[in-house]
Amino acid sequence: MNIILLGPQGAGKGTQAQRLAGRAGAKHISTGDIVRTEIKSGSELGQKVQDYNDRGELVPDEIIVEMAKPYLDAAESWILDGFPRNEAQAKALDAALEELGEELDAVVALEAPDEALVTRLSGRRQSQSTGNIYHVEFDPPPEDGEDEGPFVQRKDDTEEAIRRRLEIYHEQTEPLKDYYARRGLLATVNAEQSISKVTESILKLVGEGI
Ligand code: AP5
Ligand code: MG
Repeated sequence: MNIILLGPQGAGKGTQAQRLAGRAGAKHISTGDIVRTEIKSGSELGQKVQDYNDRGELVPDEIIVEMAKPYLDAAESWILDGFPRNEAQAKALDAALEELGEELDAVVALEAPDEALVTRLSGRRQSQSTGNIYHVEFDPPPEDGEDEGPFVQRKDDTEEAIRRRLEIYHEQTEPLKDYYARRGLLATVNAEQSISKVTESILKLVGEGI
């Protein structure tokens, strides 16, 4: 099963992809995580993309497509989180799938109003050891020490960068809903429900073949 999770910043793409990948046996591919790993490595490419990331701007299409491709090639089935984000990237994905002889099965759009998202992002913490995503109030790290952390805030979770990311989402990414709806691949889920309810809703849709 090859699935795209589409949705604004804080809708829960990473949170849900993490849970679904475990249950569906598909690989979770997050272009945001790929970007952050590259930045952490201190590589030349990491230095090139850092400024875009920290300001909440999109990394240029040709760079992000090159960064994502090896992960698509290597995975048998995947849940894409944060890619594609505009029509040029969606077309690049179509071309990559054709080349690989694979198909896209479904696009799940997670929907929530911007006000709810800012609260979520300001309380988000990510474990530096496991990559798992938590929220100080809604989904705190386990107390049994199973995840050792440390639990850090992302550099782009500042108010200014959050606002810019949401603006870009509405301008460039949201129109992709129509792009995929025209092909009969789009399903929408109310992302204002609890984390586990959202997971159940997605599994139900995917199980029904969307
Ligand atoms: P990326 O890492 O993808 O960040 P983003 O798009 O800003 O999305 P988020 O990760 O903030 O949101 P999410 O939906 O994953 O939310 P999460 O599950 O964490 O990209 C970062 C940057 O990399 C970009 O700005 C860009 O520079 C670059 N980049 C990446 N991909 C690119 C591309 N394709 N093209 C160009 N550049 C690219 O949840 C958020 C919080 O809410 C968590 O604390 C979670 O615990 C909580 N939460 C989740 N669900 C619920 C719920 N149902 N109820 C209560 N709390 C919840
Ligand atoms: Mg994410």
